[in-house]
Amino acid sequence: MARPLSIRLKRFARRVLPGTAATPPKPKLPLTGFAEHRTEAPLVELLDDETLAELNDLLPWRSFTVDGKGRRFGNWTRPGRRDQPQPVPDPRTAVMDELFDLHDKHVIEFGCFEGIHTVGLCQLAREVTAVDGHLENVVKTIVRTAFYGHRPNTFLFDVERLEDLGFEVDVVHSLGVFYHLREPIHHLMQLGKLARVGVFIDTVVADPAKATESMVVDGTAYHYERYEEPQGRKAVRAGLYDHSKFMLVDDIVRVLGAAGFEQVIPFEPVWEREHLKATIIARRTPSPAWDAMGPRRTLEVPYNA
Ligand SMILES: C[S@@+](CC[C@H](N)C(=O)[O-])C[C@H]1O[C@@H](n2cnc3c(N)ncnc32)[C@H](O)[C@@H]1O
Repeated sequence: MARPLSIRLKRFARRVLPGTAATPPKPKLPLTGFAEHRTEAPLVELLDDETLAELNDLLPWRSFTVDGKGRRFGNWTRPGRRDQPQPVPDPRTAVMDELFDLHDKHVIEFGCFEGIHTVGLCQLAREVTAVDGHLENVVKTIVRTAFYGHRPNTFLFDVERLEDLGFEVDVVHSLGVFYHLREPIHHLMQLGKLARVGVFIDTVVADPAKATESMVVDGTAYHYERYEEPQGRKAVRAGLYDHSKFMLVDDIVRVLGAAGFEQVIPFEPVWEREHLKATIIARRTPSPAWDAMGPRRTLEVPYNA
């Protein structure tokens, strides 16, 4: 498929106008002086400023945490994008802990990116497996979690191939990944075989008005919104293929039910940066505490993937 004109133009400009069309160097963020979201990190705090700056330059970080001394570990994406210290644990991970009581659970994190949510999970869960489809993210997760003193089982893995994983877990942590999938229905059905207790999915979903494409999976028709991912594997925050499919919340709920989760609760979707975002939680065995939440309510946690 031809690449969109904007990307072709950028590439052409880079070839003929070296030094002018390339992305300008990222302005530097300060290393010190961050007051918000300090997270104790004894192994980071052992580093002098010069060595921490070296660690921050060593890998192409696009997000950052702050150590107990208020120093940056990682980097921003760009001004306005992941340009603030990230809390550990992420508020959604904390909600997930309230819902699933993670202390005795094995959690798998899909799309661990740079390991920030992974550190929070390691603080809360008995065991953590963290996977990502981009090698660069796997390396960054291993480095970040090691500096926080954790050793989650971290490896390169495409979550569209869950049938190849070879083990079960208790809970699935899926933030900002589901909407990058090319075969989301197959993925949801596989979750039924993977998760002994439940799943927490935070994702972009289809705007019903734009769900104009359709597909048939196992004899059932689904509408979806097609999303082009023209950079494929090259964009390290994106999916692994040329496009993904945004699904309708009601279909996600239905398929999770068919996959074996007896209690599925969709929180009220919200609009954020022109996309409809939803959180959907599911349990294999219903919990009365979850029933008390009512069928739909607002989850008061901002989505920031
Ligand atoms: C938008 S980022 C979200 C990162 C993080 N979970 C968060 O919420 O901030 C999407 C992440 O999912 C990963 N990803 C996308 N498609 C994947 C796939 N098929 N298998 C594994 N990881 C994937 C990307 O590499 C990236 O790290």
